[in-house]
Amino acid sequence: MLMIRRFRRLRGTQATRDLTREHGLGANDLLQPFFVIEGKNKKEPIASMPGIYRYSVDLLLKEVASCVRLGVRGGVLFGLSSHKDTKGLYAHAAGAIVPLAIKAIKKHFPDFLVITDVCLCAYLSHGHCGIVHKGAIDNDATLPVLAKMALAHAKAGADMVAPSDMMDFRVQAIRAVLDKNGFTQVGVLSYAVKYASAFYGPFREAAHSTPGFGDRRSYQMDPANSREALKEACQDITEGADMVMVKPALAYLDIVSLLHKKLTVPVVAYNVSGEYSMVKAAAAKGWIDERTTVLESLLCMKRAGADIIISYHTKDALNWLK
Ligand code: PBG
Repeated sequence: MLMIRRFRRLRGTQATRDLTREHGLGANDLLQPFFVIEGKNKKEPIASMPGIYRYSVDLLLKEVASCVRLGVRGGVLFGLSSHKDTKGLYAHAAGAIVPLAIKAIKKHFPDFLVITDVCLCAYLSHGHCGIVHKGAIDNDATLPVLAKMALAHAKAGADMVAPSDMMDFRVQAIRAVLDKNGFTQVGVLSYAVKYASAFYGPFREAAHSTPGFGDRRSYQMDPANSREALKEACQDITEGADMVMVKPALAYLDIVSLLHKKLTVPVVAYNVSGEYSMVKAAAAKGWIDERTTVLESLLCMKRAGADIIISYHTKDALNWLK
């Protein structure tokens, strides 16, 4: 017999809507990214990302405190450096900005989960994510530098490192160095599925990491591909990744869903800079309602299968959800 019924019945009251809702959004779903700079008492606005700033460590602590008050469980640290060369030497210097920031956060907020971005683009003079040799990005020459960078972060107290460079075998290289040095508890969140995306534009302004020549298509993934996402994620898990990331998020929710269905590790979605800027710009013009647009987008990432979302909207979202 054909069963037909009135679907609007369950949409009729707030109680039935709340009780039948399949997915939700809360503090345990969100992580806040932070840009950290050298110096003191600095809070620099980023023109294309209203509401997001680059902080010196002293002011970063105030920002982390306000996140903690809202219930944010952790964040991802991105370092900016004025020391740039062709070897990425400052990326793994113990006195570099990210290790200093990790130590300061962990001293004041020991329970705040500190994840660090591991990539050389902010420390290389040409702005690429790997060491350049004869005009090409040299995968294997980059691995030991990334491993040293991850180790420097672990020594400073990072809970987890997140390689975003897209070199092959970097998870394995990082895991081996961490284990050898006794950091078996430091996790690896792999940017396993990172597409070569125009949605990173505002971030590159924020992090001063625009490549000086060419683009990132020889190491980041082609947006046309989805099966490749599974290959990347599976290999990173084999190499030791504890969690895998899909980036960007909104235009790639089919990939989030695919990984959620096929894998058993937590899937992280990165709601990237360009996605943030588009919402902010349209909201500033009065063309969309910021609050409902943001909460809807984040909820839909959860529905697609994201266990965790890294988003510049994290603080706002938790404020609205209070
Ligand atoms: C560094 C890195 C990028 C982002 C995170 N890590 C930029 C890039 O690959 O060009 C982008 C994050 C964002 O857009 O919010 N490799």
